[in-house]
Amino acid sequence: MSDVKSRIDALVEELNEHNYRYNVLDNPVISDFEFDKKLEDLNKLEEENPQYKRQDSPTQRVGAEPLKSFSQVTHRIPMLSLDNSYSKEEIVDFDKRIKKIVGDDVEYVVEPKIDGLSVVLQYENGMFTKGATRGNGIVGENITQNLKTINTIPLLIPEKSPLDIRGEVYIPKKRFIELNKMQEQMGGVIFANPRNAAAGSLRQLDSKITATRPLNIFIFNIQYSENTSFQSHSQGFKYLKKQGFKTADHQICASVQDIVSACEHWEEKRGELSYDIDGLVVKVNNLEQRKLLGEKAKSPRWAISYKFKAEEAETTVKDIMVQVGRTGAVTPRAVLEPVRVAGSLVSYATLHNEDFVQEKDIKIGDHVVIHKAGDVIPEIVRVIKDKRTGNEVQFQMPAECPSCGRETVRIEDEAVLRCINKECPAQNLRGLIHFVSRDAMNIDGLGGALIEKLVDEGLVQDIADLYYLKEEQLSPLEGMGDKSAQNLISAISESKNNDLSRLIFGLGIKLVGSKAAKLLANRFKTMDDFINAAYDEMIAIDEIGEKMTLSVLEFVKEERNLQLIEKLKEAGVNMTSVEKEVVTKEAFEGKTFVLTGTLQNYSRNEAKEIIENLGGKVSSSVSKKTDYVLAGEEAGSKLEKAMKLGVEVISEEDFEKMNA
Ligand code: IVH
Repeated sequence: MSDVKSRIDALVEELNEHNYRYNVLDNPVISDFEFDKKLEDLNKLEEENPQYKRQDSPTQRVGAEPLKSFSQVTHRIPMLSLDNSYSKEEIVDFDKRIKKIVGDDVEYVVEPKIDGLSVVLQYENGMFTKGATRGNGIVGENITQNLKTINTIPLLIPEKSPLDIRGEVYIPKKRFIELNKMQEQMGGVIFANPRNAAAGSLRQLDSKITATRPLNIFIFNIQYSENTSFQSHSQGFKYLKKQGFKTADHQICASVQDIVSACEHWEEKRGELSYDIDGLVVKVNNLEQRKLLGEKAKSPRWAISYKFKAEEAETTVKDIMVQVGRTGAVTPRAVLEPVRVAGSLVSYATLHNEDFVQEKDIKIGDHVVIHKAGDVIPEIVRVIKDKRTGNEVQFQMPAECPSCGRETVRIEDEAVLRCINKECPAQNLRGLIHFVSRDAMNIDGLGGALIEKLVDEGLVQDIADLYYLKEEQLSPLEGMGDKSAQNLISAISESKNNDLSRLIFGLGIKLVGSKAAKLLANRFKTMDDFINAAYDEMIAIDEIGEKMTLSVLEFVKEERNLQLIEKLKEAGVNMTSVEKEVVTKEAFEGKTFVLTGTLQNYSRNEAKEIIENLGGKVSSSVSKKTDYVLAGEEAGSKLEKAMKLGVEVISEEDFEKMNA
């Protein structure tokens, strides 16, 4: 064998291995620079000796000439679609339908429904020979040249018998933002979302352009195979992984309850994934059972998608108002034409501050896309500028506080505008609402509207006044009555016994959150010691920084604040801390867990709850920062990654010992 040929062979194999380590395993062993250097060497050798150029050479990932058009491909096996479901009840019905046909012994695999483009890849003799779009499910377009640019698609696999697999091409969220930034700099098209960007990139006739786009792929189905070594979908995943493919994340669910928990979990946590998903896909695991269930014209009976509620919607900005917060921050808020997003009716969106409004160029009357994830406050993602009529009105932050009329100021280094009037009625109202809130004094039955009424009626001016209220003052109020008045008075009275930490938090001292309040109460034990504490004593507390210390000192320097505390004391409000153990270190304090595989004794949600109750966090992906990977049965890629990164892997038994 010629020396040159063996050098080329060795380089191709070495570079393909590095490519796999870097892109699929996320675990490179050489630097990008070394990789590029070797690729350059290979390129040179191939140019000088074209007879030894291999089809699976990494230099073959970008096609030579742009295509005139895409040719058509008839799929060997139709590329089916999925039936959609939108509720837990529909999942329960799906499970019943399945069990009626195959009996009660069914295991499911749940996967993310990746929001990208479905493609099929064909391998013959181990070589990637053809790749196509789904098209109408029967005939698609030949986009082989473009798919070859995706580094997570191996050009050569160990399997030599014919293999067709299906997956979803997507662009990771972070890479999408980078891509749009680059497009903006170069004056290219700005893509609306990662899916559109992936679609646009795959439809390029010039694969050199496709090669510059951060495309990636997850494989989730074996369409055609002559290999009979796997009897289940999850075994199929293992086989695909061995072939060098990047497979979709998946989880085995033994019961419909587990599926429902997975749906609830991911509907809330979808934002934590590095790629967009629009739901989950539930599939019967056993391939014999799949055969028995069969397929309908367009979709299999053995799978269903659970679609999440859309998180984005279009609406118009009817007005922009400003709100004054507890600490005087004047923040703009968009009043929207009410629209349903992620299951709730949204009428407002936060605009954060003046810079945000300017950056997004939001005007009154604009058509906008809003985004709402889980319980998070809705946000405006972008303005649909094409829909502007010219009648939109520019918004300006007010020079005066809308509540007290005093001049607003922008403090250096701060993005927000502030009203610095300590007697501002809006700030006072917000402060009262904060005082009674759940993490502060937790006074049941005292909401924002009622507090506003108490202030309007002149019954309450400051937080201490709440403790001087009388039943006969409350019962005549509209919608109150004797019983409610009595209940409210006793709830207020009960709150006098709260721990000092709640009171400190309730005072609304700038930068002092509920955790800091606990630390302070724990350290000083009495209100007197707290208000008399010196700088050095306070800053010595772990987790209490300089800014917070200065803010506390400023608060206790003010006569009106001290008077307020005195008035609370006179009303009989507890001024001592008894909850000694509140901030003692918990078993999992500061530890990050990743859950993978099926646990025997807990659902994922239950395990998560235990971890969080003991001060830990659960994350969806394994990184060097992960402390433990809790691995159940059939643990998948996360377990592999944990082992590669040297992250501690624990069994369910270990976990039980740790939280006992
Ligand atoms: S299974 C017969 N699994 O969703 C197999 N599809 O609405 C049918 N999709 O066109 C598809 N992630 O492009 C399957 N983990 C996943 C998926 C997935 C995304 C897409 C796929 C399909 C569409 C169906």
